[in-house]
Amino acid sequence: MNEEQRVASQQVNQPKPINTKTEKDYSKYFERVITAPSLKDAKKRGKEEVKYHKDFAIPQEFKGMGEGRKFFIRTYGCQMNEHDSEVMAGIFMELGYEPTDKIEEADAVLLNTCAIRENAENKVFGELGYLLKYKRENPEMLIGVCGCMSQEESVVNKILTTYQHVDMVFGTHNIHRLPHILKEAYMSKEMVIEVWSKEGDVLENLPKKRNGAIKAWVNIMYGCDKFCTYCIVPYTRGKERSRRPEEIIQEVRELAAHGYQEIMLLGQNVNAYGKDFTDLEYRLGDLMDELRKIDIPRIRFTTSHPRDFDDHLIEVLAKGGNLVEHIHLPVQSGSNDILKIMARKYTREHFLDLVRKIKEAIPNVALTTDIIVGYPNETEEQFQETIDLYREVGFESAFTYIYSPREGTPAAKMNDNVPLEVKKERLQRLNAVVEEFSAAALKKYEDQVVEVLVEGSSKKRDDVLAGYTRRNKLVNFAGPKELIGHIVKVKITDAKAYSLRGEFVEVVNRQEVEV
Ligand code: 5AD
Ligand code: SF4
Repeated sequence: MNEEQRVASQQVNQPKPINTKTEKDYSKYFERVITAPSLKDAKKRGKEEVKYHKDFAIPQEFKGMGEGRKFFIRTYGCQMNEHDSEVMAGIFMELGYEPTDKIEEADAVLLNTCAIRENAENKVFGELGYLLKYKRENPEMLIGVCGCMSQEESVVNKILTTYQHVDMVFGTHNIHRLPHILKEAYMSKEMVIEVWSKEGDVLENLPKKRNGAIKAWVNIMYGCDKFCTYCIVPYTRGKERSRRPEEIIQEVRELAAHGYQEIMLLGQNVNAYGKDFTDLEYRLGDLMDELRKIDIPRIRFTTSHPRDFDDHLIEVLAKGGNLVEHIHLPVQSGSNDILKIMARKYTREHFLDLVRKIKEAIPNVALTTDIIVGYPNETEEQFQETIDLYREVGFESAFTYIYSPREGTPAAKMNDNVPLEVKKERLQRLNAVVEEFSAAALKKYEDQVVEVLVEGSSKKRDDVLAGYTRRNKLVNFAGPKELIGHIVKVKITDAKAYSLRGEFVEVVNRQEVEV
């Protein structure tokens, strides 16, 4: 071990955080930062301007590092994570690695983790325990943990003490550093930890190996400044940083030129898009207005925050074309008291007013939502207000969760007088309403002809194709494999509990999008 490695590994071995070091502070050791994360530091929003780098490139010295080696990435959590995995896969491939879907064949295994709820984290710890078996069989295998869990101090400490077969831990702001981290891990016997508490700059030009050639994810912004009291995301993903509009428009144009049929724009809080620009008055509505002119059949976005959903955006979405009639609008609770404790910064009345405006402008819109039940001290009446709001809006579907305390968030410190059994029972009651409304929404499609973007064959039967409508309804129908990747018309014959069944009618020609 040389001096650089010795110093580096001494720091790696310290379970106590050494925070707020910048890349510069540690530049003498491999230009890298070795620091464990701290929620306290993450909360301090830097005033420094975000820098934009268009010139990202993997240094020549790393090229060929993966020759004859294979990688495997397991992704947990949201679409942002899925997309980060595409970037990491792209980096692996530029290094010369090949992908594999068999863990036992892999030379490098990454778990791209999610921290949103405790059960998401438990799954990862379970998988880490399981990976020990592979590591014993193949000690050369590198095991890495990245994603949101790596940004949590307690997780890094637990990995250091309990999962010593892990070779690398790196954070959400360190993805582009993967080549350096891998190199370190090959050279060092110690666990390599590189987690920046402070968010990085916005990097363009990162390589990507996209999953599939039909639908593509495009980041429009990173991070979240909302600090809802239950949520870990603002700590794990850093402050809001928007990509420049010209970069996004260019990426979508290129995807369209490559034949992609659908774009999902990604951000933790897409309605805050552009708020951080200091030189430009440009918001999500402006971006959507530009993107709708691109010749690509469908554009979606996720996920919205009701507070920043402005009238201009509604006006633009109402123009239709490639902007689909589906909006995912997380409400979280229907009780003003709970919304206040959650620090959602809107009221039930504001939310209902927003829904009214959206429905007026886009009459056939499908609204879906996220709801948390069993918030600390939630009363039966407050829970009922959520049920009432659900019915009043008539959401077509929802992701529903029992509140899960996340260490370091304000809600985790609240006393809670609601027993778990009560929370579970409330979730069941809510889910019954969600199912009732989903079934009713699907039923309306019987005998109608819908447009389906065919994504592949059904999970259960090879001769049955599957795809989604503009309003995000899953449709299965019999048809030849050649239809995959096309938008087709399907006549709905049957509404099931969670999907529609139908008969193929014809292929739709790509619509001319109004310019
Ligand atoms: N407990 C339960 N659900 C949560 N969510 C976020 N944080 C928590 C938590 N601590 C849910 C919210 C959010 C979705 C992505 O996950 O509903 O919209
Ligand atoms: Fe979490 Fe709230 Fe930000 Fe969504 S808006 S990521 S729930 S803090």
